[in-house]
Amino acid sequence: MTKITAKQYILQNYANFQGPVNLDYSSPDATFKLVTKEYDTDATLEAGKFLVETIYLSNDPAQKGWFTPYESYIPPVPLGTVAPARGIGRVIASNSEQFAVGDYINGPVGWATHNILEPTPLTIKLDVSKVPHLVKYISAFGTTTLTAYFTATKYSGVSPEDEGKVWLITGAAGAAGSSLLQIVANIYKPKKILAVAGGETKRKWVETLGPNIVGLDYKSETYKEDFTKALGDDRVNVFVDHVGGWILDHATGHMAVHGKIVQVGAISRYNGGDAADNVFNNYSQVITKRLTIQGMVLIDDLKEAPSAIGQLVNWFTSGKLNINNFQETIVDAQGDKFEKIPEIWTGLFSGSNKGKYITQVAAYP
Ligand SMILES: NC(=O)c1ccc[n+]([C@@H]2O[C@H](COP(=O)([O-])OP(=O)(O)OC[C@H]3O[C@@H](n4cnc5c(N)ncnc54)[C@H](OP(=O)(O)O)[C@@H]3O)[C@@H](O)[C@H]2O)c1
Repeated sequence: MTKITAKQYILQNYANFQGPVNLDYSSPDATFKLVTKEYDTDATLEAGKFLVETIYLSNDPAQKGWFTPYESYIPPVPLGTVAPARGIGRVIASNSEQFAVGDYINGPVGWATHNILEPTPLTIKLDVSKVPHLVKYISAFGTTTLTAYFTATKYSGVSPEDEGKVWLITGAAGAAGSSLLQIVANIYKPKKILAVAGGETKRKWVETLGPNIVGLDYKSETYKEDFTKALGDDRVNVFVDHVGGWILDHATGHMAVHGKIVQVGAISRYNGGDAADNVFNNYSQVITKRLTIQGMVLIDDLKEAPSAIGQLVNWFTSGKLNINNFQETIVDAQGDKFEKIPEIWTGLFSGSNKGKYITQVAAYP
């Protein structure tokens, strides 16, 4: 009989739509509560269920929405359940025909060292031999790369054969942004890509991800001048925005006639932020430039994920894309450090990551 004491973060109170999660655990209003739970790997699980040991957690800005009850693309998660998170785990006990002991899965593991799961359409068995490292299933083949893939191929309105377009990508050093940047720079034939990221290190890094990329640091005092200089006499044909706020507003004033804005994320607004930053001053440009603004959410396209992954594999094996450039920032939360999981996650909002932001919960060879 193997007894396990699992650590889990429970969603105790919903987060405020207009503010950050409450990490004051001494307060009854804290968003999360750390609990322990006993599991016995020899006990018979309910039919269909399986016990998973979490190895890697995917840190996603979308989790703020999952912690917050508002009209979204998924129903709110019930209070008192494990805080929702996707990640990779190892099956250590099973009463499921789909998942056996020893299998690695990518699915809704939650903020838990161990958690009992049941099969969902978004719980996928992983073949460890097919990737250079398990984390590539969260980075290069994860939801952020799939988001980037569909943004480019379905929503941008531009095909790889359309040469000479000017692109603008915000959040360019993050997971979705840096994936998109690599796809556009290396598969499409853009005239130039303005890639917006925070800080000089990230600005320089994004320029290494392919040809014709001009990195711009939105935290620099000279950002708007740098933007104007980089754009020159051109205007932006395709603007893929991951951040919203004043960066979106400013960029909308630089669009080409009939340009397309694909709204993938608005991370600058997920914790409320400065009200003065929530004004779309350039909205009239949508009319004068006859712009199209389109929101996208990956779940609408997931049925096409197998063909997207097939195309990504082709690009990697043909050398058009380098899987190792789909970078990860991995923070260690093994053992006692598990308690830091919510704080680590909030690093998304202060730019802790380059590429995919991952928390490691258990050892992986
Ligand atoms: N629609 C969909 O289906 C879908 C799917 C995946 C992701 N998304 C969205 O895409 C965006 C990026 O997601 P991700 O998972 O790839 O996260 P990420 O970009 O890897 O991480 C977040 C990054 O956002 C930047 N950031 C944080 N606060 C900012 C602010 N106030 N202004 C400008 N930049 C800020 C930070 O980079 P800097 O250091 O550069 O500031 C940070 O590293 C999010 O808005 C997310 O919700 C949407």
